[in-house]
Amino acid sequence: AVSANDDLKALIRTIPDFPKPGIMFRDITTLLLDAEGFAACIERMAAAVNGPIDLVAGIEARGFLFAAALAAPLNAGVLLIRKDGKLPGATIAEDYALEYGTDRIAMHADACAPGARVLLVDDLIATGGTARAAVRLLRKAGAIVSQVQFVVDLPELGGADALREDGLEVTSLVA
Ligand code: PRP
Ligand code: HPA
Repeated sequence: AVSANDDLKALIRTIPDFPKPGIMFRDITTLLLDAEGFAACIERMAAAVNGPIDLVAGIEARGFLFAAALAAPLNAGVLLIRKDGKLPGATIAEDYALEYGTDRIAMHADACAPGARVLLVDDLIATGGTARAAVRLLRKAGAIVSQVQFVVDLPELGGADALREDGLEVTSLVA
């Protein structure tokens, strides 16, 4: 069956053995280079937003591109979720597990008002560790997070299912 998003899938390149042997890396830089493809991405993500939002939160680095492009059509501001140590003001942080060790993401503690409706956006979900930590972080700041959007879902890694089990609405353009 041909899905409406196969046109986007064709613009995503697969690089074998990056960043390590055995990993098939889904590379969205080729989608970004395509004017119609990138515009279609943003249109489809905007159309899939459920209800009014105040802020789009993007996860460093590739998530920023999609969050920023969605802000104007959604009439929302952009909230940056960054690797720890990059933001200049007072931050709150959240740790998450990697295959070996842990990583930490952060946001400005005063970036959103309690009760702000925040849409979380990233380019890709794999294990879901990053996105789940981002949801915990936003909720710690008082945000209401009910939906998370990705361009690419790698469903065999279970991240989107884990978010759904947490009660979130998860949408992606390409699986
Ligand atoms: C990638 C991707 C997601 C995350 C997905 O980011 O953009 O943020 O990994 O993996 P997960 O679902 O298993 O947590 P990366 O850490 O490579 O950062 P970058 O965008 O700065 O390159
Ligand atoms: N592509 C881009 N980012 C990723 C991937 C991938 O295949 N897996 C985990 N993060």
